[in-house]
Amino acid sequence: MRKIVLLTGAGISAESGLGTFRDVGGIWSQYDLEDVATPRGFVRNPTLVHDFYNARRANAMAASPNAAHAALARLEAEWPGDVVLITQNIDDLHERAGQRTVIHMHGELMQGLCVLCGARWPVAGEMSAAGRCPACDCVATRPDVVWFGEMPYHMEEIDRHLRDAELFAAIGTSGQVYPAAGFVMLAAAAGARTININLEGADGNDAFEESLIGPATRIVPAWVDHLLATV
Ligand code: OAD
Repeated sequence: MRKIVLLTGAGISAESGLGTFRDVGGIWSQYDLEDVATPRGFVRNPTLVHDFYNARRANAMAASPNAAHAALARLEAEWPGDVVLITQNIDDLHERAGQRTVIHMHGELMQGLCVLCGARWPVAGEMSAAGRCPACDCVATRPDVVWFGEMPYHMEEIDRHLRDAELFAAIGTSGQVYPAAGFVMLAAAAGARTININLEGADGNDAFEESLIGPATRIVPAWVDHLLATV
């Protein structure tokens, strides 16, 4: 059976009320990413960085998964082959929609990471610069998210999946941030059909064979219905 590899970005959570990064009024027009999403920014001002992620965590917890998240969970449950979902999103809306396997290549907002001992733990409330690691009691703690200049997570596993994908679909991502922006080239080189689902025909997404333009909550459920009808 055919293997489907999905890559999601901020656009899939936009209709759940979570801001995207590069759209007009997006997160990177309100904050300097150097200050809040780099290791240097964290060393300079950890409280500013914690405040940024605390606010995003609170927003994510108040949000609900939408029809696009639900449709991808249905695809995973009903497709007779493998469905692999890679997300650049740090929210947990895919999991809350019922997706069983989610590869969080940019980490997870609802998790803390100890820089010293490598422990990870669930975080539902606020983190702070004085927060202690539950395993080793040090204060070298941070949100378990990948910042610019750091290596995304699970790259070897992702590479393996892209090499045997038969269909690669990107949903709600601008294609501006590597390595995720290069996945389409890898999947295509490995022989996959490629499809881009986005609110607009964005510049970073011209390497796809096909594109479906419109809001994810409308396009993704219809696309999943169409795929499942071919089974
Ligand atoms: P962007 O903000 O760069 O792009 C969001 C994309 O979603 C755009 O192409 C929009 O056109 C599209 N979009 C917006 N609303 C949509 C909707 N309702 N339906 C469908 N598409 C919609 O977000 P990402 O591509 O996810 O990394 O950004 C990639 C990475 O850059 C993020 O993971 C984050 C960011 O900086 C780090 O922080 C390391």
